[in-house]
Parts: sequence; structure tokens; C-alpha cells
Amino acid sequence: MSTTLPLAGVIGFPIAHSKSPKMHGLWLAQNGIKGHYVPLAVSPDDFEQVLKLLPKMGFVGANVTIPHKVTALQLATHATDRARQIGAANTITFGENGEIYADNTDGHGFITNIKSKYPDWSASTGPLLVLGAGGAARAVLSALLDDGAPQILIANRTRENADRLARDFGESVTVIEWSDVSTQIANVATLVNTTSLGMVGKPPMTIDLSQLQPETLVSDIVYTPLETDLLKTASDKGCKTVDGLGMLIYQGMPGFEKWFGATPVATDELREMLLK
Ligand code: ATR
Repeated sequence: MSTTLPLAGVIGFPIAHSKSPKMHGLWLAQNGIKGHYVPLAVSPDDFEQVLKLLPKMGFVGANVTIPHKVTALQLATHATDRARQIGAANTITFGENGEIYADNTDGHGFITNIKSKYPDWSASTGPLLVLGAGGAARAVLSALLDDGAPQILIANRTRENADRLARDFGESVTVIEWSDVSTQIANVATLVNTTSLGMVGKPPMTIDLSQLQPETLVSDIVYTPLETDLLKTASDKGCKTVDGLGMLIYQGMPGFEKWFGATPVATDELREMLLK
């Protein structure tokens, strides 16, 4: 048994903005665990070397964020099916003999966040439309398909990025034109924004939402601001809405459980702390 306190952290470049150290710090305190979760600023040139040294320094695992998520999966000795499907890892656990286990919990975080607010919601209940075709969209698609989505529409500003996603995910994913989103939203049970539109410092969400129906559940992965213009409009129309903060919280739980052996909880205290 290790005689040192268990260590974990989040590796990114830059990393100062990450909310994960605060979140895991609160969970460690709430569970009375004497361990540490630290931010690690590591450049792409140093990433491989650092990742391999971490277990020798007492690290039981790490979260991985931009720009290391794809490389982390490539360096892993073992990976979950969902990490392979997404093509990137966000959660690493070290084995006793140098193994690097990679998982991607972003999609799990996305789905668990919706179900925590609307337990009866399921990806199988009706047509879905996902906006965006980046890394977050891959995680969301993977989780929606895993939750039983029969057919998912995706739309993206750059059509070829959406086409690539549809190729990777197979016939359950159909690409529609970005310019058709405003009419297609009338027909979907669930609308998900995975683009950066509406985020503080990014362009506003300019899609015409006048056709959005009150029966549609609208989820935005952006959480700065917590209530994006998309969520505000949806809420005004009587739609169920889900903000992006919970995705951050729920994606962090599987790693914490694995590394520190305790089950963390999503509390109002945690949400308020993360919004500060
Ligand atoms: P992430 O990994 O968080 O998904 P990303 O890979 O940079 O980040 O993806 C950002 C997404 O937001 C993409 O779908 C991007 O569309 P493009 O593929 O056309 O770049 C979308 N996005 C960013 N800025 C946008 C804008 N001004 N209008 C429409 N979509 C935008």
C-alpha cells in the first residue's frame, strides 16, 4: 500500500481557468479524504513525459483537458469503448505496473446532468438535434446513442466537420444544413447546443428560435453565462431547460470515485462555488 497521500489533478495548457481543482477539493473535504487534486500546466511537448512520470510521484490518476485529450487516448495502454468512440480521453487512471487507463466521461456527464433534473427524459423519446461538430459534440453523440437515440440530426457551421462526425458515428446520425436549423427545431424533442455560441466572449447565438415548441427539452453545454440566450428564450417559451454546469460536475464524478474511493455528490454549495 502506498504510504503517501493520494494525488490527482487536471492537466491542460493553459490550466489556470479550470474549475476542477475547486470541485475535487470540495469533494475531498466533504469526504474527509487526506489527498490533493492540483492544476498541472503542461505543454504539448512535455505531455507524454509528464503523464508517464505522474504515477511515480504518487498520482493515482488525472483529468486531461485541452489540448491533450486526443494525445491522452493515444498514449493509453487501455481505453473504454466510449473513449475510443469519442476519440479522446478526459479521465486517466494509473495502474500499479505502468498501465494508463483512459476513459471519457464527458458524454456521461452530459446525460446524467439532464436525467438529474428530468428523470423521465431519455434520448429514445423523440427526434434529437445537436448543434456543433467539435469534441464536445462527439461526446454528446456517443452518450445519446448509448442512451437509445434512434436517430440524431446534427448541424454545424462548417458542413464538412458534421459530415466527418456522421461518417464516424454511422447511419443513426444525419447531417442537416446549418441554415435549416431554424425550421427543423420545430420538430425535435431535444435540442442540444455544443457550439461555443452564446458563451461569454464568443459570438451570440443568432439562430432564429421562433419555431421552437414548448414540448422540446433544450440543453446548452455553455455555462458562462449559466442562463444563455438560448436557454432564456427556451424557458420563456415554456421548454424544459438544462444548463451546462451540471455536465462539468457529473463528468468529474467517475474519476473521483476511482481515484479516491468515495462517491461525490452534486450540491447547491458546489454549484455556487463553481459559479464564483
Ligand atoms: P469543443 O471541443 O468544445 O466542441 P471545438 O472543437 O472548437 O470545441 O468546436 C466548436 C464548435 O463550435 C464547432 O462546431 C464550431 O463550428 P465549426 O466546425 O464550423 O468551426 C462551432 N462554432 C464556433 N464558433 C462558431 C460560430 N461563430 N458560428 C457557428 N458555429 C461556431
